[in-house]
Amino acid sequence: MSKKVLLATVKPFSPTARDQVVAVLKDAGYEVALLESYGDQSDLVAAVSDAHAMIVRSDKVTAEVLDAAKQLRLVVRAGSGYDNVNCAHAKERGVLVMNTPGQNANAVAELVLAMMVYMARGKFGGKPGRELRGKTLGIHAYGFVGKAVTAVAKGFGMDVCAFDPFVEAATMEADGVEAKATAEDLYRCCDYVSIHMPATPKTIRSIGKNLLTLMPEGGTLVNSARAEVINETELLEALATRPDLHYITDIQPAPEIQAELTARFGDRYFSTPKKMGAQTLEANVNAGLTAARQIVGFFEDGVEVNVVNA
Ligand code: 3PG
Repeated sequence: MSKKVLLATVKPFSPTARDQVVAVLKDAGYEVALLESYGDQSDLVAAVSDAHAMIVRSDKVTAEVLDAAKQLRLVVRAGSGYDNVNCAHAKERGVLVMNTPGQNANAVAELVLAMMVYMARGKFGGKPGRELRGKTLGIHAYGFVGKAVTAVAKGFGMDVCAFDPFVEAATMEADGVEAKATAEDLYRCCDYVSIHMPATPKTIRSIGKNLLTLMPEGGTLVNSARAEVINETELLEALATRPDLHYITDIQPAPEIQAELTARFGDRYFSTPKKMGAQTLEANVNAGLTAARQIVGFFEDGVEVNVVNA
């Protein structure tokens, strides 16, 4: 009996990327089921029932989904952050979880710089704005995305610093990045800080007033990571106390916070309407094909790469 792979993307890949993913899986002899833009979590629960593997994006792979998937052996998150997958429950059920780190990093990096230019130029309203050249950018967590943002920022002539307790200073310095010893040191010296950490018990609500108000005059916080890492109550306080600070995000805050940010700080706040950092054809192809190949490698050759719930 052939294996069945479910491609479940509530936020679909571009059709070109999706077709390439399907082709890789079909060429390997697998049956492929598509569940795109579905309306309800119950659709995912129903669709997964006879799948041996699944590819997801930010889709919620809950205990309920995993319990409904009696044949499931592998979940591949086509992307970096796997906070949407109940990894512990998957492990209990003997289901491996993999991600595809780095595959969408350039797409996110380009959006980060685009949002910075948009804000620096007064949201393209025509009034005199500011340039990025010569400003200092702080990278808060220096992984694949932080590194990609650095490369693009350097093209704009920015100076780049970074703080990451898990990355050696020498690694950052090899990229021409000044390593900072603490988050406080980073925020204190940077005109812009761009956040690139996952949402974990340690990072959730870890960025608040204490860090933000250390930023120099006109400071801008850029979030393309996760909404959860921001202490949103303290963000509102920081923006109120410091009328020069700005907040740009690709992850929409909770509706009540979003309404307050827009009403009180409209010109110093920008959010994309829907998370779109990784939403390019190229990133979809890179992440989707990597996910499909990891599935084939696992079933055909027992290769376990990018496992996040070992
Ligand atoms: C990631 O963790 O890879 C990014 O946040 C992209 O998420 P998405 O696949 O939901 O766009």
